[in-house]
Amino acid sequence: MPVTALVSAKSCGVTTSALALTLASKRPSLLAECDPAGGTIRAGFLEGEVGAGFGLYHLAAAERTGPDALAHAFANHLWNMDEAGHRQLLPGLTDPAQAAALGRTWPALSEIMHVMADDAGYHVYIDAGRIALESGRLHTTLTPAPLLHQADLVLLVVRGTEQSLALAKHTIGPLRTEMDERGNGADALGLLLIEDGPYRAHQVAEALTAPVLGALPFDPGTAEFFAKGGRPPRGYGRSPFLRHARTTTEHIEAAAARRAIQQQYPHKPANPQLAGVLQRLNERGGQRG
Ligand SMILES: Nc1ncnc2c1ncn2[C@@H]1O[C@H](COP(=O)(O)OP(=O)(O)O)[C@@H](O)[C@H]1O
Ligand SMILES: [Mg+2]
Repeated sequence: MPVTALVSAKSCGVTTSALALTLASKRPSLLAECDPAGGTIRAGFLEGEVGAGFGLYHLAAAERTGPDALAHAFANHLWNMDEAGHRQLLPGLTDPAQAAALGRTWPALSEIMHVMADDAGYHVYIDAGRIALESGRLHTTLTPAPLLHQADLVLLVVRGTEQSLALAKHTIGPLRTEMDERGNGADALGLLLIEDGPYRAHQVAEALTAPVLGALPFDPGTAEFFAKGGRPPRGYGRSPFLRHARTTTEHIEAAAARRAIQQQYPHKPANPQLAGVLQRLNERGGQRG
């Protein structure tokens, strides 16, 4: 399964979309909330059910102890969003000031995410937040750059509005260069369209010269459920939103599989201690939280 990172030029629905894809996926899925500006799922969709003692920030200290400690901590800080453990969440930072501590942790975390994808069969979604640039490069504290470099696919989330496209046009160039020079290749880049505004998928693809790998309806009611949790809206299970999200996960998986066949940059095998995350996960079983 692939590791797919979602980003935006400006807040427009990255977290909502990442959550929707994770929950709609037919495959086991894992959402890593790695937005350096702070996570919103803990206080939102999870309605505060998970405390600050749990989640991404604690992996920075574990990484300083060593790869074995990081592998154990990763498994221990995953929150089961369902009883069976098919939907896992790594809750994000509670304070943007914590982001600096993660700078040296991202490369090892990226390896663990690839172990989860390649060996445990999870489609891993990374909420990487808003793209911040510094001299035309990904900002090293304000973006989880190593996660983007190593992702199988990087999806720029855009709305079909003039404003969203205008900002995305400025972001996609540096992102393409970055993936080309430091990452997994420029063709790892794709678009996820939120169908708000007049522009259709083919126009968005043409304007940004990148493929639209999926589209989600503009649906404030369902989006609010992903933002705040609580009771799902009527007909949620069969809603166009969820259907589109599921189709998008399939398109993403197909695109990643096509790329894997042509892959010029095969993933290096993970550090065996980091791969220990699998054993820890099995020991933990399906218990919640
Ligand atoms: N598909 C959608 N339809 C309607 N509103 C949406 C959709 N996706 C996101 N939103 C709304 O847009 C706002 C920003 O969404 P969020 O996912 O938090 O963005 P980001 O993570 O990019 O900052 C929220 O109010 C959210 O409910
Ligand atoms: Mg967000």
